[in-house]
Amino acid sequence: MSAKQSAHRGFRRLQSLTGILLLLSSGVGTYLLATDASLWLLAFSHAVGLMIIVAFDLVLGLYSLASSKSAYLPSIAAAFLGFVLQLGDVFTAPQYNMTIAYFAHYLFGLWAFDLLLGLQFAVVIVGFIARPHAQYLARRRTKRGKEFDYSRRGLLRAMGGFAGLIGIGVLLGSLKLTGPAQQSNQSSATTTTVAGAGSVANVNSLQVGTPVLFEYPAGYPSALVKNQDGSLAAVSMLCTHVCCQCSYDAASKVYYCPCHGSVFDLAGRVVRGPATTDLPTIQLRVDGSGNVFPTGVSNPGPCQV
Ligand code: FES
Repeated sequence: MSAKQSAHRGFRRLQSLTGILLLLSSGVGTYLLATDASLWLLAFSHAVGLMIIVAFDLVLGLYSLASSKSAYLPSIAAAFLGFVLQLGDVFTAPQYNMTIAYFAHYLFGLWAFDLLLGLQFAVVIVGFIARPHAQYLARRRTKRGKEFDYSRRGLLRAMGGFAGLIGIGVLLGSLKLTGPAQQSNQSSATTTTVAGAGSVANVNSLQVGTPVLFEYPAGYPSALVKNQDGSLAAVSMLCTHVCCQCSYDAASKVYYCPCHGSVFDLAGRVVRGPATTDLPTIQLRVDGSGNVFPTGVSNPGPCQV
């Protein structure tokens, strides 16, 4: 077998492997998008970024399986970018009221996320292994010029193009994130009450079992409810699983998290997981006129309340 045949054969085999890895990566990314509602409700821009990565992986996987040499550099570029961006997600935790350590613990605890990272890393490694073949073939000239582009500039160009497209997608997704997504889960069964200055409600205008929403501290959604016996309970509405905003389910009289389905009673106790920690409790002071003031948080959860 000539050196040319050997290079073609080795390159084709590695490209087929790259194609399979990319298609698997696309499938795992799709699984994550389909099963993790927190991507859509909490981190919409991440969902958009992942959708673009899934699309790249699908197209490049098919091209690689078809042994298109032009897919070689873009595949490495897309996999490398996907790997770096997925890892970088961990550092966006403060944007979602979480510590980086807590978010990393959640993300790396997802088998699909780990597999996605592994597949993208494997594509980069296979691309590196195919390098000698690629270099050989790129040096050869056919009647129409070089067999294919294999250059650092080509790699950087592909990476820049993908980064630009993902950046635009994430930017558009961010616009939605700061829009109604974070506020849309509030139930219409909640009420507002007439209260004194600085207070969140007045005891006399609260309806038993119907929460009033307020922010405490500023920017953190919380709910106050009057119990049957007249006592008050106020809790943070940020789910202690991954900090999605809970909503009030008037039919069951519980707080429900739309991201992964955790349920809490009106005192904030976990009724159903995956959350394992009760909602943070807001301490209250009631003045002589019945005005209710939040004064502190007694059991801060992972959402930095
Ligand atoms: S964020 Fe996962 S159940 Fe609430």
